[in-house]
Amino acid sequence: MQREQKRFIDERPKSKALFERARKSLLAGVPMNWMVKWAGAFPPFVREAQGAHFFDVDGHRYIDFCLGDTGAMTGHSPFAVVKAAEEQMRRGITLMLPGEDSIVVAEELQKRFQLPYWQFALSATDANRFSIRLARQVTGRPKVLVFNWCYHGTVDETFITLGSDGTAGPRPGNVGPPINPAITTKVVEFNDVDALEAALHTGDVACVVAEPAMTNVGIVHPQPGFHKVLRELTRQHGTLLIIDETHTICAGPGGYTQSENLEPDVVVFGKAIGAGIPGAAYGLSQELAEKIAAKQELENCDVGGIGGTLAGNALSLAAMRATLTKVLTKEAFDRMIPMAERWTTGVARAIADVGVPWHVTRLGCRAEYLFGPEPKNGSEAHAAMDFELERFLHLYAMNRGILLTPFHNMALMSPQTEREDVDRHTSVFREAANEVCAS
Ligand SMILES: Cc1ncc(COP(=O)(O)O)c(C=O)c1O
Repeated sequence: MQREQKRFIDERPKSKALFERARKSLLAGVPMNWMVKWAGAFPPFVREAQGAHFFDVDGHRYIDFCLGDTGAMTGHSPFAVVKAAEEQMRRGITLMLPGEDSIVVAEELQKRFQLPYWQFALSATDANRFSIRLARQVTGRPKVLVFNWCYHGTVDETFITLGSDGTAGPRPGNVGPPINPAITTKVVEFNDVDALEAALHTGDVACVVAEPAMTNVGIVHPQPGFHKVLRELTRQHGTLLIIDETHTICAGPGGYTQSENLEPDVVVFGKAIGAGIPGAAYGLSQELAEKIAAKQELENCDVGGIGGTLAGNALSLAAMRATLTKVLTKEAFDRMIPMAERWTTGVARAIADVGVPWHVTRLGCRAEYLFGPEPKNGSEAHAAMDFELERFLHLYAMNRGILLTPFHNMALMSPQTEREDVDRHTSVFREAANEVCAS
């Protein structure tokens, strides 16, 4: 680790100088606090990014498997989005009035997710928050249910975990929780049907907020039949089902919902929907849309906690239209998914050859390795995490021109990711795993 830290610092004098300057005006030297988490002594400062690659200010070229933690899953600055955004910026950025792009985007989302009505927000966090508010309003119930070790953005209700004794409380790192989230939220393990049934049975849960496969604690796949039961139980107990596809859009053009024929009441999709230009969408079923419409108050609809001044702005919608119609197409997924298969196969072989008890898995064009056997829930996945080992592997990769997402061991394929990029990762991963084993 010391050798790799020294190499990282020695080879990046310009990033180091910028970081030292940044510490005088930015809290902890970064524009957003998560950026302190990169494995190096400072983050590499970026000069420019294009497609699946970027250059730092010291001239190093990186293969980007982090892709802005999914925001740039489209590849960096795809031509069609840049063109549409440039054109729109010359014609107005935000108006508090609709344009035709909003209809085109909603029509495209209708086809992909089979939900008839759509609304826009600026982030997936907001889309989740608004969906939860609507669910509470329509059901008249106070509680939300989430799965242990989920992540749905900075949504207060979702920052809850189960302790080893089974009690729910604020998740570690929860900054200034307004109240104990156990008051607002029930939390059960993913794939635990009995716990789900017991939690819904009391009739006070407005909605379940779920990623269809967990992606924020490594990848945890649903067990066969889990989604069927989840849907049956939520319907049976009058609880709405909010499926957050922000990451699982990696499964295909209509995310996991389309590929597995799920029937949610709400779908949330953010991050990559505008190729990184801020935007998110949430879709509503016919029945839910009717209930919401019946409750809408014209006079107070601007102060009810749903929406936002810049939500649904013209630039955001132009970017979404171009992304959906020209970039995140079926053809793009047909290229990205086999690339992730190649990544997974390479890593699985390296794990087997080196003989470490690790595991690699894949969901569409997203792949991830974990330091343990395949997990069936968030607790098992979390127990297999190893902060120091993860930092070593990430730093080792960065020093050899590869960027993985800093919060776990995830690699995402963009439409421009090449076989050589994937194979380069495989050989660097193998080399690093061998060193870990040798020590
Ligand atoms: C599944 C999921 N939903 C929502 C979000 C929140 O996205 P944002 O930070 O863009 O609001 C994230 C962020 O990682 C996520 O993983």
